[in-house]
Amino acid sequence: MWSACVLFLAFSSAALALDNGLMRTPPMGWLAWERFRCDIDCQNDPYNCISEQLFMDMADRLSEDGWKELGYVYVNIDDCWSSKDRDAQGRLQPDPKRFPRGIPHLAQYVHDRGLKLGIYGDMGTLTCGGYPGTTLDKIETDAQTFADWGIDMLKLDGCYSNSSYQEQGYPMMSKALNATGRPIGYSCSWPAYQGGLPPKVNYTLLGQICNLWRNYDDIQDSWDSVMGIVDWFFDNQDALQPAAAPGQWNDPDMLIIGDFSLSLDQSRAQMALWSIMAAPLFMSNDLRTISSAARSVLQNKAVISINQDPLGIQGRRLLKEKSGIQVFQRPLSKGASALVFFSRRSDMPYRYTTSLKTLGYQPGVFEVFDVFSEQRLPELKDSTQFTVSINPSGVVMWYIYPAADRWKEAEFEGFSKKLIGPKFHRHANEVDAPLVL
Ligand SMILES: *[C@@H]1O[C@H](CO)[C@@H](O)[C@H](O)[C@H]1NC(C)=O
Ligand SMILES: *[C@@H]1O[C@H](CO)[C@@H](O)[C@H](O)[C@H]1NC(C)=O
Ligand SMILES: *[C@@H]1O[C@H](CO)[C@@H](O)[C@H](O)[C@H]1NC(C)=O
Repeated sequence: MWSACVLFLAFSSAALALDNGLMRTPPMGWLAWERFRCDIDCQNDPYNCISEQLFMDMADRLSEDGWKELGYVYVNIDDCWSSKDRDAQGRLQPDPKRFPRGIPHLAQYVHDRGLKLGIYGDMGTLTCGGYPGTTLDKIETDAQTFADWGIDMLKLDGCYSNSSYQEQGYPMMSKALNATGRPIGYSCSWPAYQGGLPPKVNYTLLGQICNLWRNYDDIQDSWDSVMGIVDWFFDNQDALQPAAAPGQWNDPDMLIIGDFSLSLDQSRAQMALWSIMAAPLFMSNDLRTISSAARSVLQNKAVISINQDPLGIQGRRLLKEKSGIQVFQRPLSKGASALVFFSRRSDMPYRYTTSLKTLGYQPGVFEVFDVFSEQRLPELKDSTQFTVSINPSGVVMWYIYPAADRWKEAEFEGFSKKLIGPKFHRHANEVDAPLVL
């Protein structure tokens, strides 16, 4: 029942969404912060410091290693890119040693590879790293500078300001970006600085002025950090879930898959839960050295296609079992849905038994595609009891489709062929008896 209601809310807020035509599905790409922070020591750490070379390297990897084709098109600069002083005309300028050829050159380099360039600013007197912020009197100048440089997205942080300043500044920047005439995706950190929840945060207003917004704490390279974010977002899903729609997204922060802390199961869990949340997929990792295991999680076509579903309805947590198993669901276009079975246990793979009927599905027969094993499973009746084996801190993720008639059957074949090509195969066995997957 909830999905019909959510559908209505999603459409009603989408009608008022920020009208820059951008980010009708969650944006995807790469963002420097979590992995490279404010490393400005190019003398001693030239390979990892915040410099034009780092962003050119990532642009090369995105365009040459199969990322761009999957939708990872943004190359985003975060804090610590600028000089400590504005130029003589009061404009922001990059650090001359670390960005010797300037931002327009970098934008050209990125655009030549079919990618987009994002930059970072701060609605306040200083950025979080202590670089020049965008005060109210500098909003139009900075918007115009970014447009002149060929910037495609702006993340506007909120350090060194207060709530009344932010209440004026974030909508003003939205207007100023629009006035440049250049479509620039707009990421607002505003709600994260106001506790992330109504009544302090007005998500109706955010949907009208921003394409995405950070609601909560920065992600760190740890599983605890990922879990803190997941718990906060789903504990508050009644307030957050209706805010998402095409062009306007909640942002639980970057993917840390490919960094130092997550196991393979935890990497799949982050990818699965971010896709249930219809979250932006900004990786913050080193694409020059990423492992093939991490790459295969981030490049999994089925989970990306769920994340990018055109309806743009954010999913919800359905169940929190005493056993430590949690179940999440997201409604998708054409009557499909995604289910995630997530284990918070730390002992051994847990055998969880349920049925689609128990999870609220209508009577019928369903096709099931297992996202991470990339296999089609036997057809499932709503009433059939099945058992999934879920690894500790891991997930099982399903794409589910009603197998009601021949036309829909053909659609499903198309979906799975598109996703996994020649590896696709069909299990012939019909199931009525309890099923182990
Ligand atoms: C500016 O806003 C108007 C009206 O909301 C919209 O039609 C237009 O496409 C926007 N332009 C840009 C560059 O965002
Ligand atoms: C908020 O910040 C602005 C600019 O620094 C300042 O003028 C104003 O007094 C501050 N307001 C409050 C309530 O602290
Ligand atoms: C939230 O913002 C919307 C759009 O600007 C406005 O119509 C509404 O009154 C605001 N809600 C509250 C509680 O301030």
